[in-house]
Amino acid sequence: EKGTYPYYMLKEIDEQPATMRRIISEYTDETGTVVIEEPLLQSLLTSDRIYIVACGTSNNAGWASKQIIEGLANIPVEIHLSSEFGYNMPLLSEKPFFIYLTQSGETADSRQVLVKTNKLGYPSLTVTNVASSTLSREASYTMLLHAGPEIAVASTKAYTAQIAALTVLAKAVGEAKNIPAAEEFDLTKELGIAANAMDIMIAEKTMIEGIAEEYLATTRNAFYIGRSEDYYVSMEVALKLKEISYIQAEGFAAGELKHGTIALVEEGTPVIGIITEAVTAPHTRGNLREVESRGAHTLVIASEELSKKGDQIILPIVHQFLRPLVSVIPGQLIAYYATLLRGYDVDKPRNLAKSVTVE
Ligand code: F6R
Repeated sequence: EKGTYPYYMLKEIDEQPATMRRIISEYTDETGTVVIEEPLLQSLLTSDRIYIVACGTSNNAGWASKQIIEGLANIPVEIHLSSEFGYNMPLLSEKPFFIYLTQSGETADSRQVLVKTNKLGYPSLTVTNVASSTLSREASYTMLLHAGPEIAVASTKAYTAQIAALTVLAKAVGEAKNIPAAEEFDLTKELGIAANAMDIMIAEKTMIEGIAEEYLATTRNAFYIGRSEDYYVSMEVALKLKEISYIQAEGFAAGELKHGTIALVEEGTPVIGIITEAVTAPHTRGNLREVESRGAHTLVIASEELSKKGDQIILPIVHQFLRPLVSVIPGQLIAYYATLLRGYDVDKPRNLAKSVTVE
């Protein structure tokens, strides 16, 4: 039930910090040790490459989790679109392990790949919000998101829950392999800090509503730009914006803009930069200056430690691996408020269904 909330999407955005805390309690024991099913752990320990297969927002969550898994578990990770992978399968490694990310657990595009990898005899994990779902039943293992039902068509809490669940997985595998980065990573503490940071961002609703009004009330198109993790989050928040507000939005690798897409920047085009990483921050800022000199209406979402005077949205500092959990929130809220302003139904965008059961 949405209770006092005008829309499920807003309720679900608000539920994200609590979901982080639930994931901590579901996946740690009394001593604070991270626990996943033993057979799942053993299977991952013998695999030489992880293939994440997913659609839409779940695919974007895969991208945001790649560095976490590679960094903590030291296993190479590839991310694939389900609708492409099944019919255009790349050459696989010797010991592949498949992870299906699917909030609903019913997505036909993802299921057709699972059916194929099952036939080939490869181990698989479904990370899902729905315990009894098809992909959960048909995969070797399941990890649940414990996010509670997600009703709004635009996925929010499943995105952050998927990243958190894969962080749990990466920590468990890395620890079992004695990887120093995993041993040093205090999951309970760091996810707890991220949950608090999410609360801080969510409390900025009124400010973010004002930004949506200033930048997106009438625009035809908009761009989000960033590098590495900030690029992956850009793809997700651009998807949020386009699917519910119908603004043509694109998430772009900041450096790639000048190789073609910059031609679309006109007087007043909103270009929103996400900046959370020290090494790439000056470059993304440079790209923002480039578009600004061509008339773009620029907005900066930056981590506190990298923020500069004039930046509009400041993100609290969290562990480097967990930045997407926090940097995604302003974009979720921007999409929500832009849609309200433009007079559309936030929870039920046109042409879309909550679970897509045809290929
Ligand atoms: C976007 C959205 C979709 C889903 C996609 C996959 O907000 O909700 O892009 O993420 O259809 O759905 P699941 O995760 O259920 O497989």
